[in-house]
Amino acid sequence: TWKMDSFVEQTVAELKERIGDGKVLCALSGGVDSSVCAAMLAKAIGKQLTCVFVDHGLLRKNEREEVCAVFGEGGQFDINFICVDARERFYSKLAGVTAPEGKRKIIGEEFIRVFEEEAKKIGAVDYLAQGTIYPDVVESGLGGESATIKSHHNVGGLPDFVDFKEIVEPLRDLFKDEVRQSGRELGLPENLVARQPFPGPGLAIRIIGDVTPEKVAIVQDADAIYREEVDKLPMSERPSQYFAALTNMRSVGVMGDERTYDYAIALRAVTTTDFMTAEVTMLPPATITTAANRIVNEVKHINRVLFDYTTKPPATIEFE
Ligand code: XMP
Repeated sequence: TWKMDSFVEQTVAELKERIGDGKVLCALSGGVDSSVCAAMLAKAIGKQLTCVFVDHGLLRKNEREEVCAVFGEGGQFDINFICVDARERFYSKLAGVTAPEGKRKIIGEEFIRVFEEEAKKIGAVDYLAQGTIYPDVVESGLGGESATIKSHHNVGGLPDFVDFKEIVEPLRDLFKDEVRQSGRELGLPENLVARQPFPGPGLAIRIIGDVTPEKVAIVQDADAIYREEVDKLPMSERPSQYFAALTNMRSVGVMGDERTYDYAIALRAVTTTDFMTAEVTMLPPATITTAANRIVNEVKHINRVLFDYTTKPPATIEFE
């Protein structure tokens, strides 16, 4: 860790020098890369940094609270932090939309609109900070939150809706594990630093068919239980990515004397290094059955739990 220690120290010093008394704007997704990027800048320039975090209503359970606890008021950094509650906007735009690409497009466009409005309120800045990491530089198009920032926020390569002079990318030379290590050096909590990848369109692409606030709540609850159970495994046995997705299928079940007709949730667990191909992670049966039992008992409107045994290819990691 001495290497990352000195990397953090050196980068903070370089950022101070380069930015001087300039203003910096950072779009914070809550993912590892943008969080470490923001923390690095926070350490270097404090209140000269403004972070904008958008809650599109498609985040995982408690995610917004976790991000706000770290970067918001009373958190560990002295910065300007803006949390935009845009849930209703996204839900109304998504209402009735079932096509996967349609959903992605709507979310990407709405994200830009929300961010643009916030950027206008902030006014001109000197720098726009991005959490681009080395793998993004050599091969854009890989998964990860920084890839999202690119496909969603960058219009023609650079976000032309923000009034800024230069881009600052403090993580450009780092691999993912080095980014995580830097995050730890900067004092970010483990739940943020060790996070698995989460797509920009969020839970919308883990809900097959149309997105409603009710379905989001169902998948959030099921996913939280599943992750909690998997996280009981030692780190070395945990999959690269694991989550719950709401299928569009309802089936018959029984509860007490009542017949139910409710949703089936799918659990996914994959092991991969590059996210271009992926193997199915053979979780211990007890982990799966405990998660399944808890989900049907604790989450309303789920009466069936399925496990996805498909590799990538032919399936993708996400469901849409
Ligand atoms: P797929 O589903 O294509 O996903 O096998 C590969 C990896 O990329 C992530 N992913 C995304 N990440 N924005 C992102 O930042 C997106 O739109 C997006 N779609 C998929 C996915 O979670 C997996 O890690």
